[in-house]
Amino acid sequence: MSKGKFICSKCGYESTKWLGKCPACGSWSSFEEKPEIRKKFKDKTRKSTLVKLEEVSLSHLERIKFKSSQLNQFFGEGIAKGSVILFAGEPGIGKSTFLLQLKNLLKNNVKVLYISGEETEYQVAERAKRLNVKDILFLPSTSLEEIIDIINRDYDIIIVDSVQTIASEEIESPPGSVSQVKTVAEKIVEISKTNTITTILVGHVTKEGAIAGPKILEHIVDVVIYLEGDRTSPLRFLKCLKNRFGPTGNVVVFEMTSSGLSEIENPSYFFIAEKREEMSGSTLATIVEGNRSFIIEIQALVSPALYSSAARRIASMYDVKRLNLILAIMEKRLSMNFSAMDVYVNIPGGIFVKDTATDLAVACAIYSSFTDTPVPSDTVIVGEVGLGSEIRAVKDIDIRIKEAEALGFKKILIPEGNRINIKNTKIEIVRVSDIRKVLEILFGF
Ligand code: TYD
Ligand code: MG
Repeated sequence: MSKGKFICSKCGYESTKWLGKCPACGSWSSFEEKPEIRKKFKDKTRKSTLVKLEEVSLSHLERIKFKSSQLNQFFGEGIAKGSVILFAGEPGIGKSTFLLQLKNLLKNNVKVLYISGEETEYQVAERAKRLNVKDILFLPSTSLEEIIDIINRDYDIIIVDSVQTIASEEIESPPGSVSQVKTVAEKIVEISKTNTITTILVGHVTKEGAIAGPKILEHIVDVVIYLEGDRTSPLRFLKCLKNRFGPTGNVVVFEMTSSGLSEIENPSYFFIAEKREEMSGSTLATIVEGNRSFIIEIQALVSPALYSSAARRIASMYDVKRLNLILAIMEKRLSMNFSAMDVYVNIPGGIFVKDTATDLAVACAIYSSFTDTPVPSDTVIVGEVGLGSEIRAVKDIDIRIKEAEALGFKKILIPEGNRINIKNTKIEIVRVSDIRKVLEILFGF
């Protein structure tokens, strides 16, 4: 065991002494001993020398291409050869499924080695059969030394599932501890760099922010991607947080099906597919994920409560506190009374909506249901509602307008305070500054 520095397992803060409480994040008993950086692999080609930049070989920037143009763009014209990717997400979200499918998603026949410290060959083989994936080499192992031994230039891509289950025999602490996770990652990064093999390290995160989780690995790797989603819905969002060889902010949406993850080319259609014509209580809003915007439907139902003393506020895939706030603003500023009414808000399609740019559409859906007056189905509503019932500017207005236009909607209501940079839009843009004005436009209030 090395006598190195100490490191906070929650946030990665380093100290020369062991500390009971982390000065950076305030966690208690989170310090662990950090291993010394051991001897680097002896590789003569990696001695530092002066180079002329134009003579540097850019072979490491060669790309492994996907069949899907969305996935190519996501990584920046495909995956850079020799790059190290951290693939993070909550347990059970679909990381192993995606990585097993990876070979089928790629354009050319690449050689994939799948190392798993979590599942046996029987489990993975059964899944591979179901996903119709063939010609992948599999190694069930939890030993770093065993993995180092097997990695060689013959492979194009190596998947390590997961970095928290692999341990080095040289270190005493258990798998998943900061020392192990860092050592495993650093060693594998070193080998894949010297051999120009693309490596994908899987890292589990929990909602609370995992101990020894991917956060401490983010600076070691070239690319950080997250797979996110609500476990109760089949939708999964692949997001890129860091990319030394391409753009960040891209999002690819998938649906988890019985035959694995299937890419959704146009997610807005997924959210509004069943939108019926001119139904009261239904409005269209926009949300932003990464650098993309989607159109979603908001459904509200306002009906007399059975017991007026116990009127209900129920929000599905939407924050009930936000619903209460919007109702309070409507009561105060529009002199409406919901005290004896049950109010339900639902977002169909399986995405939990937090984007406050949907406030105005929620308010309009509630008003529409309350008065039983439909909102025109060709109109998209964008705006955050302030406590004074004023409509506040939202972020990313351009991509919201573009998505509404691309889907053929005729009109979009946007906050007066938003500056638009896009030109020559075909969609009619109506600027609004107050909720009363909006109700006047939509309902003749
Ligand atoms: P998994 O890839 O094992 O998650 P992770 O590696 O992130 O922990 O996915 C587990 C879930 O996905 C599990 O609940 C079953 C579901 N699933 C499907 O719905 N369809 C499929 O084809 C597969 C392989 C998994
Ligand atoms: Mg898994």
